[in-house]
Amino acid sequence: MRAVIQDRYGPPDVIAVADLPKPEPADDEILVQVKAASLNGSDRENLAGRPYYARVAGLRRPRNPVPGSDIAGIVAAVGNSVTEYAAGDEVFGELPGYRGALAEFVAASPRLLARKPPGLSFSDAAAIPQAGCIAHRATRGLRSGDRLLVNGAGGSGGAFVIGLAKHLGAAVTAVDRADKRNHLLRLGADETIDFAEQDWADQRGRYDRIVDLVAHRSPYRVHKALRAGGTYLMVGGYTRVLLATVLAGWTIGRSDGKRVRVLAVPQSRTDLEAVTALVTDGAVAPAVDRIDPLEEAPAIFERLAAGDNLGKVIVEVS
Ligand SMILES: NC(=O)c1ccc[n+]([C@@H]2O[C@H](COP(=O)([O-])OP(=O)(O)OC[C@H]3O[C@@H](n4cnc5c(N)ncnc54)[C@H](OP(=O)(O)O)[C@@H]3O)[C@@H](O)[C@H]2O)c1
Repeated sequence: MRAVIQDRYGPPDVIAVADLPKPEPADDEILVQVKAASLNGSDRENLAGRPYYARVAGLRRPRNPVPGSDIAGIVAAVGNSVTEYAAGDEVFGELPGYRGALAEFVAASPRLLARKPPGLSFSDAAAIPQAGCIAHRATRGLRSGDRLLVNGAGGSGGAFVIGLAKHLGAAVTAVDRADKRNHLLRLGADETIDFAEQDWADQRGRYDRIVDLVAHRSPYRVHKALRAGGTYLMVGGYTRVLLATVLAGWTIGRSDGKRVRVLAVPQSRTDLEAVTALVTDGAVAPAVDRIDPLEEAPAIFERLAAGDNLGKVIVEVS
């Protein structure tokens, strides 16, 4: 089968397309013929091996050389003990360990995969899992009229955060590069901040929720931009900020009822089905940057590494 391989961490030129043996599903797995996959910020990090938490996939090199976590495809075979799915079923979801998606076939546990709604294309279905589930958790509990700031809004997760926050009636401030401003406004952001021009963390008492997809500021600083009772959620970013937030977050801003914490998003079929229902109902739409074939993987990763994508990068696999 054709597959993308990455045998070490580094720049996009470590990416190649090659032939690999077709996997055999174990008794408790299904074999999925991948029709479409999508890439996220985690794939950019897993390419570079930075931040260092990306190396849980392998300290010196990725244990599984096939990148990508989000797939949509057709069940080609099922293991002996699988009763939930049969050959021909259309499924989608996120692969454990964030790897294995960019191949014509993947053997996976059916636990995290959901049935693809018939009206949803394979590309749109592949766009949802990781980014949609992050946004689903990050916007939970928002109320109409709340003010939300999303930092790193122009990539994969940001589009869903903006869409879900607007659906819940929040006012959205989206922070990213200046050249992504029109994209952010089209997604529904009420205002944008160019991070090179203005530091949103200099604001005082403004937001009910801050969703930080690219956290690099100290947790002792970011809480000042929250209103009393507001919540800062670190989703991704520097390892030292992650550690500081885990260790000290619970002590910060407590007198004002503020919460500063890391949002750990479990890979969950229930979350995936909940956010997908909002997509099929038309409440939120995946923001697709472009769709390219698997054979173009080196160029696709160049674009991802440069951050030139507006929303989701989709790979047509087979
Ligand atoms: N917490 C969890 O359980 C969990 C689960 C899965 C993934 N994650 C993490 O989620 C994070 C974000 O994912 P994503 O897929 O949305 O990332 P993404 O697609 O890479 O988007 C990040 C966006 O932030 C922009 N950006 C870069 N530097 C910035 C800065 N200083 N200020 C503001 N914006 C900046 C990027 O622009 P450029 O492209 O120009 O750089 C890009 O538009 C990743 O770190 C991933 O590891 C967390």
